[in-house]
Amino acid sequence: MKIIAPSMLSCNFGKLEEEIEMVNKSDADWFHLDIMDGVFVPNITFGTPILDVFKKYSEKHLDMHLMIVNPENYVEKFASLGANTITVHYEACDNLKDTIKQIKKLNVKAGVAINPDTDVSLLKEFIDQIDLVCLMSVFPGFSGQKFINETYERLKSLKTIISNSNANTIIQIDGGVSLDNAKKLVSIGADILVAGSFVFKSESPKKTIEKLYTAIN
Ligand code: DX5
Ligand code: ZN
Repeated sequence: MKIIAPSMLSCNFGKLEEEIEMVNKSDADWFHLDIMDGVFVPNITFGTPILDVFKKYSEKHLDMHLMIVNPENYVEKFASLGANTITVHYEACDNLKDTIKQIKKLNVKAGVAINPDTDVSLLKEFIDQIDLVCLMSVFPGFSGQKFINETYERLKSLKTIISNSNANTIIQIDGGVSLDNAKKLVSIGADILVAGSFVFKSESPKKTIEKLYTAIN
């Protein structure tokens, strides 16, 4: 089964509880939560008080995408806030292997995100230790950006790296996902599609999630 993970950064935070309920009742399996520190990326999003609300109302997998420097200092905190997956950026870690171990020790799935200009082959030496690779299809920092077409080639290379290592790592695509590219991404090997503005700027977010889900399953 392929997964739709709505990026809650694009939801209406004035009605957060309702937005969470909508996703609970939808065909989405994960909540994608974008945490930005204004240092690793030129934007600041949300932290502990908002994550507490997700922890309280979510009935689904909480996928925390950390776009922060020194994520190792906060991994434990995010685990205590109910994270099921914690994804750190390859570019933000001084010691990726240790950070992956640290996440797994907390019984949380370990994800590694890579920026569109980071060579996917750099993940070769870690791939069998990573539960999920988040292949960024836009530069991190903002929702509503245009999907970068080179992602298809990068996805193919990543898929080859994973199968050559006999790893079980799953692939998530993040940024600019819509009904225009969803099917193609899954046919090349994506397992999870993150979608923010395409879902929440549509007339009926719940129906849009259903359409995305149906397109890939
Ligand atoms: C970008 C974030 C994405 C973003 C996706 O830095 O990691 O998750 O919110 O939003 P859309 O789908 O609008 O590109
Ligand atoms: Zn994200």
